Amino acid sequence: MSERYDVIVIGAGPAGYIASIRAAQLGFKVACVEKWKSPSGEMALGGTCLNVGCIPSKALLASSEEYEKTAHHLDVHGISVKDVRIDVAKMVARKDGIVSKMTKGIEFLFRKNKIAWLKGHGRFVGAGDGFFRIEVTGDAGAEVNEARHVIIATGSKSRHLPGVPVDNRLICDNEGALGFTEVPKRLGVIGAGVIGLELGSVWRRLGAEVTVLEAMPGFLAAADEAVSKECWKIFTKQGLNIQLGVKIDAITPSAKAVEVTYDDAKGARQSLKVDKLIVSVGRVPNTDDLGLEAIGLSANERGFIEVDDHCRTKVPGVFAIGDVVRGPMLAHKGEDEGVMVAELIAGQQPHIDYNCIPWVIYTSPEIAWVGRTEQQLKAEGRAYKSGQFPFAANGRALGMQAAEGFVKVLADAKTDEILGVHIIAAAASDLITEAAVAMEFKASAEDIARICHPHPSMSEVMREAAMATDRRALNM
Ligand code: FAD
Ligand code: NAI
Repeated sequence: MSERYDVIVIGAGPAGYIASIRAAQLGFKVACVEKWKSPSGEMALGGTCLNVGCIPSKALLASSEEYEKTAHHLDVHGISVKDVRIDVAKMVARKDGIVSKMTKGIEFLFRKNKIAWLKGHGRFVGAGDGFFRIEVTGDAGAEVNEARHVIIATGSKSRHLPGVPVDNRLICDNEGALGFTEVPKRLGVIGAGVIGLELGSVWRRLGAEVTVLEAMPGFLAAADEAVSKECWKIFTKQGLNIQLGVKIDAITPSAKAVEVTYDDAKGARQSLKVDKLIVSVGRVPNTDDLGLEAIGLSANERGFIEVDDHCRTKVPGVFAIGDVVRGPMLAHKGEDEGVMVAELIAGQQPHIDYNCIPWVIYTSPEIAWVGRTEQQLKAEGRAYKSGQFPFAANGRALGMQAAEGFVKVLADAKTDEILGVHIIAAAASDLITEAAVAMEFKASAEDIARICHPHPSMSEVMREAAMATDRRALNM
């Protein structure tokens, strides 16, 4: 039956489900439209992140790290373990269990906050009398609901290469790559970006021979140069065969293998035969069949919905958040936008500092950064100072057998304000939060240097790196 709502959110990924909860907390009558179906045909909330993104990939990363540690890195502690084996079906079932627990958790949160889940595909079919009309087409047919405010949170999907048939059996995007039933002997990955490095690492640790083919001549160009150089050394030493500057010519599947022909960086034709291929060359926004034209909106030439700093589209009352708009395609960025928009609708004055959104790549060691890179500061002509400190000089890191990597702090040459922090470390995903908090409060490197950090802890390296910006690191 058709209903009128204060707010309808289209999409229940991290951006949309968080927007729905915050809007409901603020007293609005809220519905969220979501069409996701799991491979077993069950409808699910949570979007890419919970179903086929952040959560399942981190579960597999953790399992594969446990395996690698047990099989190869316990000897140094005086522990010997024989006959270490991996049961891939059990590992994948654990991952599926975590996904199911998390997506069911959102169903609970929707019930708790009295958010109606409209199951099916949502599209605009018109507007008038201060309401937008949204048609929802599901298994039971179509119905039109109305709302004063609409938040578009339809997310993104894998970009596929033209003419390359992704069947999620031999040639996989992120969805297939998270559900392999056995460890492939030879795995090919197209794209040395975040997914390529994370999922390439999972299957390498479990024994696959992994070759990553990257079009760009540089490695991890978005990261600080010191970080990308160090990571290149670490990952290639771990056994990832990463080839830069390649040009893919053809990808040809046969019954049980895939052949990739490509030109290497010197222009020589090469051929690679693999048992599975992961295509991870970026993601594209979901704006197809949204009926945007019915309300006078359209996606831009790259498929994104144009918004201002507060996620307002050019149609008053309609907002767009998460992967479907500009900015990094990160779950926490979408969540923050969801909170901001709900609060804006409620008449509050929220704000996001996009410069303080942290990035994490969950390889081993992890990579994390927030703020500007050294190459960005140079390009901007900003005078800065830099301090770097290695985990190899930290007692806790040595004790934990986690001495790879460093923290690098970049601060304004005159004011000492922290401009960027870059970390390679086992616990970089947690350590980076201190830097994000500091930057949100416009802290200086001196502020971090004066804060008492627990000893022994990995966090002491952050303090030493902050002191190193003034050439006064104590333990180096
Ligand atoms: P999505 O999560 O894509 O959700 C959009 C939802 O909208 C979907 O459920 C879709 O079914 C629904 N939808 C779309 N159109 C309609 C419609 N017309 N009607 C009804 N429903 C619709 N980010 C991180 O921050 N950390 C990580 O560790 C991380 N790991 C990742 C690992 C992988 C393998 C991948 C692929 C991504 C990862 N990401 C990670 C990125 C993260 O998943 C996305 O940034 C995040 O999911 C975006 O949230 P969203 O709500 O904008 O969109
Ligand atoms: P990506 O943008 O990180 O990397 C894609 C890579 O593919 C780039 O290095 C690009 O140069 C390369 N490439 C593009 N076309 C190519 C071609 N034809 N041949 C060879 N290489 C080519 O995209 P990815 O890895 O698909 O991930 C998508 C997004 O999902 C990320 O940008 C990130 O926003 C999000 N994500 C975030 C994670 C995290 O926060 N830890 C984990 C995984 C994904």
